[in-house]
Amino acid sequence: MQTEYAQRREKLMAAIAKGTAIFRSAPTAVMHNDVEYNFRQDSDFFYLTGFNEAEAVAVLAPHHEEHRFILFVQPKDLERETWTGYRVGVEDAKEQLGADMVYPIHELDEKLPQYLEKADRIYYRLGRDRSFNTKILTHWQQLLATYQRKGFAPTALEDPAPLLHPMRQIKSATELKLMRKAAEIAVEAHNRAREFARPGRYEYEVQAEIEHTFRLQGAIGPAYPSIVASGANACVLHYTENTRQMQDNELLLIDAGCAYAYYNSDITRTFPLSGKFTPEQKAIYEIVLEAQLQSIAQVQPGTPYKQTHDVAVRVIVEGLLDLGLLQGDPEEIIKEEKYKPFYMHRTGHWLGLDVHDVGLYQHGETPHNLEPGQVLTVEPGIYISPYIKPVEGQPLVDSRWHGIGIRIEDDVLVTPSGCDVLTVGVPKSIAEVEIKGHSLTL
Ligand code: GLY
Ligand code: MN
Ligand code: MN
Repeated sequence: MQTEYAQRREKLMAAIAKGTAIFRSAPTAVMHNDVEYNFRQDSDFFYLTGFNEAEAVAVLAPHHEEHRFILFVQPKDLERETWTGYRVGVEDAKEQLGADMVYPIHELDEKLPQYLEKADRIYYRLGRDRSFNTKILTHWQQLLATYQRKGFAPTALEDPAPLLHPMRQIKSATELKLMRKAAEIAVEAHNRAREFARPGRYEYEVQAEIEHTFRLQGAIGPAYPSIVASGANACVLHYTENTRQMQDNELLLIDAGCAYAYYNSDITRTFPLSGKFTPEQKAIYEIVLEAQLQSIAQVQPGTPYKQTHDVAVRVIVEGLLDLGLLQGDPEEIIKEEKYKPFYMHRTGHWLGLDVHDVGLYQHGETPHNLEPGQVLTVEPGIYISPYIKPVEGQPLVDSRWHGIGIRIEDDVLVTPSGCDVLTVGVPKSIAEVEIKGHSLTL
């Protein structure tokens, strides 16, 4: 794996040429008082180093005479490590992480300027930590102050994202292996949850089944807060309380994925808790499933990303028109977004080291075309909240539709010849999600 991190750095260094790039590790985040969240490395930093500690800075200086990859890390400190975990330390970081030079992090201000002074620009993405931003800007300012006298200094500050994120978007064979594993674990978790869920049980019990499977199979944990939403809770897109007792004749929407070695999966399934759809639930489910299948059918190299959304919207609009939940001309409904009370989110996102992964969806007016190695989610839905807002010129929604919320989400890899649905192992056809024998209230 070290070789692959080194290759990524080489590729980025070739692009930054005479510049110097600075990447900072994620900070530790406080949950409450002096209790911290589990540490989660910054994805850019991890992609380039594979290093999993806080309070670190990676510098890439391809033009520097001696050191091209420099790391600043927390030094060994046995007393601190007793509390917060072992550190690689300055000595071992060089060999373990392949750095040309390693310094303790407290020497950053002293050592950094030598790697910046001859650079033509500094690649640094302004982050949320303003004091660190100020630190970098101050170094830059100090170098600029001597520009006139010396005749060299970095004269621009540039975001490395446009160089780095297209690299992150195309997954390597190693990355795909990890993504397939993340998908496989989430598939197992969903299938287990499907077996377990029934009227009378609580949403959190289903969540426990899912997250138990994640951990049991070696995932770090959920990729995002698991959504287990029964009945009208499914109309709340980010419902995460998961506290309700599930009832007969309701749907259960589960949106849950895991992080495995930092790579994420993201799956949604919706199914009838009693094993059989009501006619209204079935009618909506059929539309969402058709929208999802047609959208997935678009996924192949060369398709504009936006088409995956546009196709889903069209199927949803036509379906809602057929049911009388919308009325009028489909073109006008689409253009004026009159479907939005039912479908208010996008049809997917890139997936990778981040759940909502990096990468552009559009280049201004120019479409972003799908390429082999990209992974995206396809996740259309229809939500008929009991509080759905009436739209002028549109029919009022009869209460028999209220509380139906359906989303179906898969993770899809673009391949040279089309696509590969990584999460195909969780059933979604009507015949498969209507499981008999779950109608007894426990
Ligand atoms: N659960 C996050 C998403 O589907 O994007
Ligand atoms: Mn998603
Ligand atoms: Mn999701």
